[in-house]
Amino acid sequence: MAATERTQVGIVGAGPAGLLLAHLLDRQGIASVVLEARSREYVENRIRAGVLEQGTADLLTESGVGERMARLGLPHEGVILRFGGQDHRIDFRALTGKAVMVYSQHLVVRDLIAARLAAGRRIVFEAERVSVHGFDVHDFDTGRPRIRYQENGAERELECDFIAGCDGFHGVCRPSVPPGVLTEFERVYPFGWLGILADAPPSSHELIYSNHERGFSLLSMRSPTVSRLYLQCAPDEDLEAWSDARIWAELQTRLAGPGFTLREGEITQKGVTPMRSFVVEPMQCGRLFLLGDAAHIVPPTGAKGLNLAAGDVAVLSRALGAWYGAGDESGLAAYSATCLRRVWKVQRFSWWMTSMLHRFDTHSPFERRVQLAELDYVASSIAASTALAENYVGLPFL
Ligand code: FAD
Ligand code: DHB
Repeated sequence: MAATERTQVGIVGAGPAGLLLAHLLDRQGIASVVLEARSREYVENRIRAGVLEQGTADLLTESGVGERMARLGLPHEGVILRFGGQDHRIDFRALTGKAVMVYSQHLVVRDLIAARLAAGRRIVFEAERVSVHGFDVHDFDTGRPRIRYQENGAERELECDFIAGCDGFHGVCRPSVPPGVLTEFERVYPFGWLGILADAPPSSHELIYSNHERGFSLLSMRSPTVSRLYLQCAPDEDLEAWSDARIWAELQTRLAGPGFTLREGEITQKGVTPMRSFVVEPMQCGRLFLLGDAAHIVPPTGAKGLNLAAGDVAVLSRALGAWYGAGDESGLAAYSATCLRRVWKVQRFSWWMTSMLHRFDTHSPFERRVQLAELDYVASSIAASTALAENYVGLPFL
């Protein structure tokens, strides 16, 4: 017999989506248990995104987990587009009145874990054989959601009112929805990103998105002493073929710019990320809600993955607050539609940035000229650069 525990919201996954949801629910007095397949050490050191929209950073600050971000985060008021041998700055502050915060995803994860454990709440790390049941496909009222898992080899069952599937693109929640309920929309790109972390002071105060004949590259950072850099590569690029010297030589070529010197340093981490756009509709099935990468993936060019997850969390935590507080079901009923309006706009932006900045081997000379004209238009038109800036700093969550 499995040991049974009861909670209000069972959360699968301790990435940014699951941890932030647990945190915002806790602040409203709603109980949850977070089940995570990996170890605490693993999730706290997983290097991923680094740019927080102003709304994401504000949400962390307002909910009491922004202390370290206020100390170590780097506020950025613009980015540089580099193409045709020239730089063009997009001034977020002047165009939108807003900014973004450069702060590592794994630090957001650490801050949220620390806050949750300090409050005496539960996260089950290294949960095994997690499976979700009873969320009911059609009838919201009759669902009796349960999550089964193993902890240290012992069978456990979590009875809950709702399940939040925050278990990323390869998780169990989305595939547990019966066939025919969800529709998937997908685009796979013919390239990926080779990303590195290097012990080198950032060579620019602001991020540089560079469109080069040999392919896209991006200069970003994590701190005043650590650079984060990316190169467009094949989706299945063999990292073994990339010595540190070759990576730096390619970055030097693709990031060359007026008066610019790329500072090199020891490479401490390397990885290849394939690129896809993916959305599932609806983002809900009965009492199972999908959030973050479990429901959608964006190519990283717009720096949106983590921010989209935060948007879903903002919508669901508010809807659950209304349900538990006033018995109001309307927010939960509208969850998917509310999120998807924003998700598709962010998909559009991420696809557009990706299309504008990468090298496409299939491009004809005509298409290449149109791509450069688009960059020139964005850089020279206030209307077009405002559209980029407005999306980059983040569309409203609600
Ligand atoms: P995740 O962070 O994926 O968290 C899901 C959690 O669920 C994980 O901890 C996982 O271990 C856990 N889990 C999975 N299956 C189970 C299960 N069966 N049971 C229990 N737990 C489970 N975005 C950017 O904007 N810029 C970037 O540079 C960038 N780089 C990225 C690099 C990589 C390699 C990846 C994969 C993503 C990157 N992203 C980037 C996207 C961004 O990091 C994600 O959008 C963000 O992590 C989404 O948060 P999430 O909580 O929805 O999912
Ligand atoms: C970073 C990642 C992105 O995808 C992006 O568009 C900008 C910055 C980063 O990891 O710093």
